[in-house]
Amino acid sequence: MNILENISLKAYNTFGIDVKAKSFVEITSLLQLQKALQLSAYPERFVISGGSNMLLTKDIDALVMYINLKGISIVEEDENSIIIKVMAGENWHELVLWCLERGYGGLENLSLIPGNTGTAPIQNIGAYGVEIKDVFVACEAMDVESLELIEFSKEDCKFGYRDSIFKKEVKGKYIITSVALKLTKRDHKLLTFYGAIESQLQRKEIVYPTITDISDAVIVIRKSKLPDPKELGNSGSFFKNPIISKKTFKVFQKKNPEAPFYELEDGNYKIPAGWLIEQCGFKGERIGDAGVHEKQALVLVNYGGATGKEIWELALKIQSEVRNTFQIEISPEVNVIK
Ligand code: EPU
Repeated sequence: MNILENISLKAYNTFGIDVKAKSFVEITSLLQLQKALQLSAYPERFVISGGSNMLLTKDIDALVMYINLKGISIVEEDENSIIIKVMAGENWHELVLWCLERGYGGLENLSLIPGNTGTAPIQNIGAYGVEIKDVFVACEAMDVESLELIEFSKEDCKFGYRDSIFKKEVKGKYIITSVALKLTKRDHKLLTFYGAIESQLQRKEIVYPTITDISDAVIVIRKSKLPDPKELGNSGSFFKNPIISKKTFKVFQKKNPEAPFYELEDGNYKIPAGWLIEQCGFKGERIGDAGVHEKQALVLVNYGGATGKEIWELALKIQSEVRNTFQIEISPEVNVIK
């Protein structure tokens, strides 16, 4: 096993934060993963894969395990649907394209989300009315203590809005190694009502969209609002959209009749944090190399040399301003490593 010492993690996190890993190992097989978990000289471990949902604010004084397990295989299929098993290190958007090329539907609304497949269930990635839970069958994860591979069914994962059991009860206890997804081969369930998809399709004069048309529309919309991490370091939405009770919402709406909102099935309301942040005047704000994206206030960006601490300080400032202005608490969606 090739263990490197004192390695910069800049290329391994989409924020592009330049912190160091005390030790670093790339994992390309399950056997390697088991071996790395047994290294007694490295009792402290830190798992990284796509690095698209974390803000690193300090050097990592541990063995960084870079999960780069590859492979896609077919578990079962009939004329209507297919179940595929995707190894954790497969890039998410490349997987979406792989499915589109073969005519498998279900992931098109989730086009262009940065990161890898193995970490997607942890925060139940979602966009344009679809979440990974909608196509999720199960995942396999290695128990970091017993080194056994355990299967988690969809129910086991307890998916919620940007949430799962892997963020709560079993946090840090398992490393997801593969994910099984069920996709459609015909009669695709096309979801076009959300956001700007419909108007983008109209602009292209598409009346009967294919799954590829939807993916193309999502890509255009995302590119118009969200910065490409390769060009401008970021981690997508930095905060979650806050969910408030009906009672709190009524008070909020009275004061802010123009605010966008979504009514949820359980009677609560979701308010776009991007709107709240923009109202507080932060859109396009820049302090040193830490900034708020000029087209989407929910996205914090690194103009190049920002430290994780500087971005976190900006996030805290935003959080407190939103609290003071709207009496609403917004909490980070990204995993802040403090
Ligand atoms: N808005 C503003 N100002 C802004 C940003 C947004 O007023 O600077 C308003 C918009 O006008 C719109 C509303 O807020 O009325 C919602 O904005 P948008 O459609 O851009 O979506 P979002 O709620 O900000 C969520 C997800 C995104 C996902 C999009 C599309 C979260 C935390 N974020 O963003 O997911 O792509 O919906 O489905 O739920 C991510 O998780 O990293 C991510 C990018």
